[in-house]
Amino acid sequence: MSVTHTRIIATGSYMPEKILTNDDLSKIVDTSDEWITTRTGIQERRIAAEGQATSDLASNAALRALEAAGMKADELDLIIVATVTPDMFFPSTACVVQKKIGATNAVCFDISAACSGFLYALQVARQFIGSGTRKNALVIGAEKLTSLVNWKDRNTCVLFGDGAGAAILKGVNESSTSRMLGSVMGSDGTLADLLKVPGGGSALPITQENAASRPNTIHMEGRETFKHAVTRMCQAAEQALAQSGYTANDVALVIPHQANARIITAIADRLGLPEEKMFMNVQRYGNTSAATIPVALDEAARAGRLKEGDVILLVAFGGGFTWASTVMIW
Ligand SMILES: CC(C)(COP(=O)(O)OP(=O)(O)OC[C@H]1O[C@@H](n2cnc3c(N)ncnc32)[C@H](O)[C@@H]1OP(=O)(O)O)[C@@H](O)C(=O)NCCC(=O)NCCS
Repeated sequence: MSVTHTRIIATGSYMPEKILTNDDLSKIVDTSDEWITTRTGIQERRIAAEGQATSDLASNAALRALEAAGMKADELDLIIVATVTPDMFFPSTACVVQKKIGATNAVCFDISAACSGFLYALQVARQFIGSGTRKNALVIGAEKLTSLVNWKDRNTCVLFGDGAGAAILKGVNESSTSRMLGSVMGSDGTLADLLKVPGGGSALPITQENAASRPNTIHMEGRETFKHAVTRMCQAAEQALAQSGYTANDVALVIPHQANARIITAIADRLGLPEEKMFMNVQRYGNTSAATIPVALDEAARAGRLKEGDVILLVAFGGGFTWASTVMIW
């Protein structure tokens, strides 16, 4: 079979059982359910169990995707994990997942692009498959973001949660209508300071002196980030649609990065789409960074909201800044 296109053949996701509600948070920091719900749409988020690492969340999501695909782990050619909360600096979380699921024949590495990570990873996998170098790929977005949260900072701790989603990609030939189409990626490192975890790496190692100021937690200029997120996601979505020969009217469902319900509403407004075409689960999980899109994709697929032949638009924005959008025919 001559491979010219790439499609997603199956998805899977895993969310930890433990729920942290807005009311729970209001006992930890000076906040309220009313403030969090009105400003973000978030009602609760999931917290990884004691001892559960990002690779555990990722492996559970991967096994569900493999089951949906009817594939065995040793059939996988490539595993890419998008994460900003790797188990450790190295080995890559993808290598740890490989071991945990028994994907003995896969090449494995991680991608760091914050909340855009899954869409970046999707594009990288697509290049491997399109070039014929690999026949299939497991792409995972997985985060234990609560490991980077400062529970004393109400500006950020209410926003994030843990979870993982996975997709299995395969090469297909011209006869397949289901395929990935236009894709846009962008980055602007000059705005890196607006959203970052400044410490814990080589630039600012954690020391006894600086540990108390928690540099190894998420720092964000919320209002500025919000503006860039809306602008970049709308631009990326429009560009990916134009590349694919479609307009927003053709889209059956948008799966946007889930950071804030107001961001999703703003994108719907600018693209001229009704809200029922915007998939939203931020109310249940908060922002799980690279995991939001694959988790949403899996929930939409399992709920029967993705029908064969549908035009699906994925769009993300995150730290870096980074952004990306992909159009696919389901
Ligand atoms: C973070 C965010 C929800 C804040 O909403 P906002 O409407 O911009 O609110 P502001 O930051 O302007 O803060 C408004 C006030 O609420 C306060 N506040 C912040 N967090 C609060 C909380 N959890 N509970 C109660 N009050 C809070 C602030 O201290 C501020 O008070 P002040 O006016 O007395 O200074 C919003 O900016 C956002 O979602 N930004 C983008 C986040 C994002 O997308 N990040 C990831 C990108 S991938």
